[in-house]
Amino acid sequence: NRPHVGPTQCVGPDYRSESQKPIATVSTEVKYETVTTLPQTPQLIALLTFTVSLTYDDCGYRKIRDRNTERADFIFYSNRIIRLLVEEGLNHLPIVEHTVTTPVGRNYAGLMFQGKICGVSIMRAGEAMEQGLRDCCRSVRIGKILIQRDEETAQPKLFYDKLPEDIAERWVLLLDPMFATGGSAIMAVEVLKSRGVPEERILFLNLIASPEGIGNFATKFPKLRVVTAFVDQGLDSKNYIVPGLGDFGDRFYTM
Ligand code: URA
Repeated sequence: NRPHVGPTQCVGPDYRSESQKPIATVSTEVKYETVTTLPQTPQLIALLTFTVSLTYDDCGYRKIRDRNTERADFIFYSNRIIRLLVEEGLNHLPIVEHTVTTPVGRNYAGLMFQGKICGVSIMRAGEAMEQGLRDCCRSVRIGKILIQRDEETAQPKLFYDKLPEDIAERWVLLLDPMFATGGSAIMAVEVLKSRGVPEERILFLNLIASPEGIGNFATKFPKLRVVTAFVDQGLDSKNYIVPGLGDFGDRFYTM
């Protein structure tokens, strides 16, 4: 079990020299303009880390990749990453200039978001990201899509969807934490497109992506934007992301 699986980088604050920074595994680089990977900050890497920090072990400071992390901690730290993803996702929405007058009578020339949004979660794991979206966008509409593997064909099959009726006029933040082969996400995007949402108005937010999923998506939907916290090394024979974090839905809802 090698300590670094994938690219490494010295990670730490700018005021430290490279030799003073610890080395960590960082996101695999991907070449698509439509894919945004969160900055590989010490904060993000620590939240994702799969080894236990000795300093913080006593206060339960274990993070989401660690197989020993308990459910309450998994939820807490996942939520922190989800919040970072949503905040970054919002940076991709259209904005216009907007000036306000402050309480001391001066003008401040700022910006305002333009257009309506909604979230769409891919059940069940995607539902774990809904609260993070609500925390940033208070009364946001949220739709749901249930896609499961058809036992006979082994292909993803649409079982259920409930989407805002005016979804074609909205920007859609599509939510699913693990972007493995992209089979479910591709089907979800096809559902959204069939309801009139153009590809360029969909943002797919996920915590961990595989290079395979990203490649499949970019070929099929060249205008659709992906925001991910980390691109991992690849997939195993069961299509789990590696090194990954296991089954996100199980760890968030049941374990
Ligand atoms: N879904 C998960 O929950 N984990 C993976 O690694 C892949 C898909």
